[in-house]
Amino acid sequence: MAKILSGRGYILGLTARRIALLAEVQNELPERSYIKRLDIAEPVEAMQLLTGLIEEMQGTDIVVVCSAVCFYNPEINWQSEYDTVTTNVAGVTAMLNVAFNYFRQHGGGHIVGISSFKALRGGSKSPAYNASKAFLSNYLEGLRFNAQKNQLNISVTDIRPGLVNTSMSLNKNSLFVVSVETAAMQMCKAIESKKRVAYIPMRYWLIAFLMQKMPFGLYRRL
Ligand SMILES: NC(=O)c1ccc[n+]([C@@H]2O[C@H](COP(=O)([O-])OP(=O)(O)OC[C@H]3O[C@@H](n4cnc5c(N)ncnc54)[C@H](OP(=O)(O)O)[C@@H]3O)[C@@H](O)[C@H]2O)c1
Repeated sequence: MAKILSGRGYILGLTARRIALLAEVQNELPERSYIKRLDIAEPVEAMQLLTGLIEEMQGTDIVVVCSAVCFYNPEINWQSEYDTVTTNVAGVTAMLNVAFNYFRQHGGGHIVGISSFKALRGGSKSPAYNASKAFLSNYLEGLRFNAQKNQLNISVTDIRPGLVNTSMSLNKNSLFVVSVETAAMQMCKAIESKKRVAYIPMRYWLIAFLMQKMPFGLYRRL
């Protein structure tokens, strides 16, 4: 996404824990960009760092909250569940909070959260992950509702990817997995057209619809 958006002239600020990887990405970007090491599992410090990055960039129009962890955890080990909630719920909420309040104070902007089609149902192998994405999609709707009720010029986009071939993907051989390039291209399109909710790729809309309607007895056989 960074490569596509930079190619279209966006000035980007990129954050994650692995600063060396961020620097590699930065070297490939045609447009000016900023990088900052930031660990959202330390939400209070991360909020200060994100605020500092926005100041350094002299403002921002869009904040995309993409960071997450996902553990294969069929044994329901506590540490994995805790780490998932700390990053995907507390950390993500902290970043969205900075973005929402920044846009409230600066006349508006666009918030994007990368959720998942898994937000719609519980998952047996990574239950905290599915639940964290349910939280995120619900929270994004709450922020959109709040912005509209208070007549704030803040748009909120909830992106729900299907299976994408990244290091996070547990099921790389599934017929339903899409490439990073395809997913990134479609996510950028959804952001630029300010969609409220976008399934990536689009066919996941149907998969999500069927998943939601499916009785538990059938869902558990998948
Ligand atoms: N791949 C899929 O099939 C799929 C499907 C649906 C939704 N998604 C969602 O898409 C988003 C991107 O995931 P991905 O597939 O690209 O997986 P990924 O390659 O594992 O990327 C996860 C990203 O989150 C960052 N991150 C993790 N913990 C962090 C922390 N504590 N502080 C700051 N950054 C942190 C990582 O950077 P560092 O490790 O350097 O911090 C990395 O950039 C996630 O929200 C994921 O839930 C993925």
